[in-house]
Amino acid sequence: MPSPGLRITHYDPQNGVMIKVEGLTKKYKNFTAVDNISFTVEKGEIFGFLGPNGAGKTTTLRLLTGQLRPTSGKASVCGYDIVKERKKLRENIGVVFEYQNLYTRLSGRLNLDFFRKLYRLPVHRLDEVLEMVQLSDRSKDPVKDYSHGMKQRLLIARALLHRPEVLFLDEPTSGLDPHSANQIRKMILNLSSLGVTVFLTTHYLEEAEYLCGKVAIMDKGHIIALDRTEDLKYRYSSRNINIRLKEDGICNLVVLSIDNKDTGDRLKEYVNSKSLVSIHSEELTLEQVFLKITNPGKL
Ligand SMILES: Nc1ncnc2c1ncn2[C@@H]1O[C@H](COP(=O)(O)OP(=O)(O)OP(=O)(O)O)[C@@H](O)[C@H]1O
Ligand SMILES: [Mg+2]
Repeated sequence: MPSPGLRITHYDPQNGVMIKVEGLTKKYKNFTAVDNISFTVEKGEIFGFLGPNGAGKTTTLRLLTGQLRPTSGKASVCGYDIVKERKKLRENIGVVFEYQNLYTRLSGRLNLDFFRKLYRLPVHRLDEVLEMVQLSDRSKDPVKDYSHGMKQRLLIARALLHRPEVLFLDEPTSGLDPHSANQIRKMILNLSSLGVTVFLTTHYLEEAEYLCGKVAIMDKGHIIALDRTEDLKYRYSSRNINIRLKEDGICNLVVLSIDNKDTGDRLKEYVNSKSLVSIHSEELTLEQVFLKITNPGKL
């Protein structure tokens, strides 16, 4: 038997793959919400699952967490088949959906305690997760007095109670103010540094750019882009450098291509010149890439 707190993982140790999806499809009657998608997520990775409204993100999340049965295709999480090994799967994952219930008349601590007993965990685990989500000082207050951000943090604490290997978060910062959202983002980074794999859906592309090493962009049930975030941005960005110069009170823009042989020399010249105002690359943000390749107007 493993000692308490030690988790034996079942993922493929060869390459550390924690989520493996192969040709996963979900149909609702004649409508295909998720259409033959495939991808992998590695241990400790923060994987961004992006897409316009109705793209099929939550459906995918529900498939991967064993709440829906796929129409075809297969997937495993922590090495457990999402259809055949649902019990094991659930023991190894934490899930925070957009709309989830809390017992609002009970305190945050008592809400967690209900699940702690269910998982047969020691009482001190409550203090650990409350500390992790920075709710220790308000843990005895009834949840009805919590702000939206506090409720969201409590849900994350609940999902973390049993030390899951993989955490699924469906729009965890939706509707939060910048500080509360930032608190949750830092928490996600911290979990990733501890080796927890995070599967995250969000409509905040800046958030995805900040947090996610790899992203998939979904549109109408299909994955239309899947890459490391940096590589995706690079692929759609121009390879130009914009240089602004000011001479005799007049601003001029010079555009240099990174691929030209003399760019290095010219750049050096401009950097040393007194007329230099600014130098910018033309790298697109993830949001600009997203808008370029998805077409929500047609939904
Ligand atoms: N139970 C259901 N029965 C029929 N259609 C459904 C059902 N659940 C979802 N859908 C449809 O499947 C599609 C994908 O829905 P899903 O909730 O996965 O999208 P999403 O990407 O999570 O969108 P959002 O960004 O708005 O949360 C939508 O067209 C939705 O209407
Ligand atoms: Mg959704």
